[in-house]
Amino acid sequence: MNITLRPWCEADAAPCAALANDEGVAANLRDVFPHPYAEQDARDFIALCCAAGPDEALFCAVEVDGVFAGSVSLTRGTDVARKSAELGCWFGRPFWGKGIATEAVRQMCARGFAAWDIVRIFAEPFSRNRASCRVLEKNGFTHEGTKHLSVYKRGKLLDSELYALIKTR
Ligand SMILES: CC(C)(COP(=O)(O)OP(=O)(O)OC[C@H]1O[C@@H](n2cnc3c(N)ncnc32)[C@H](O)[C@@H]1OP(=O)(O)O)[C@@H](O)C(=O)NCCC(=O)NCCS
Repeated sequence: MNITLRPWCEADAAPCAALANDEGVAANLRDVFPHPYAEQDARDFIALCCAAGPDEALFCAVEVDGVFAGSVSLTRGTDVARKSAELGCWFGRPFWGKGIATEAVRQMCARGFAAWDIVRIFAEPFSRNRASCRVLEKNGFTHEGTKHLSVYKRGKLLDSELYALIKTR
């Protein structure tokens, strides 16, 4: 299985919308990720990715054996948080449970530490999202704590987990 990260392109809009239009994907993401998810939502997101400055964020489409599978991103902090970046990712349901997220996150963290003078990459999965927590643990992230009732999603207050990967060299 060949897992590659590459820049987004306009042709990703249709396969992106097809995979993203899934309540199982949206349920554990921020509300900025729409549900239902239309092709126009994908076009808007791709435009945002292409407009981001190279010091601001790294947005990558993930391909598995040449097929669009999902998204991984790193967003750099600002002001006193400028030595940190936040990781985000989602994959279409047919691609779950195959180690794809683990490898994509590994590649993205390496890119972030190589591209920017940052010392910390963090993520805040919802506590119920055990698969996401596991992906971070498998990449060497440390569990820094639980943020109690930090998320209000679909009318429910939820906990989230704080994980971070610190640059060691
Ligand atoms: C969460 C998500 C990124 C995981 O992607 P994936 O490609 O399935 O992840 P991987 O296959 O690399 O690894 C998943 C790990 O979680 C484990 N896992 C899956 N479901 C689990 C569960 N309910 N409880 C405990 N572990 C679980 C798997 O066994 C695997 O660990 P292992 O290799 O030790 O067996 C993917 O399901 C997804 O995109 N979900 C929707 C969006 C989302 O939640 N994004 C993350 C927001 S923080």
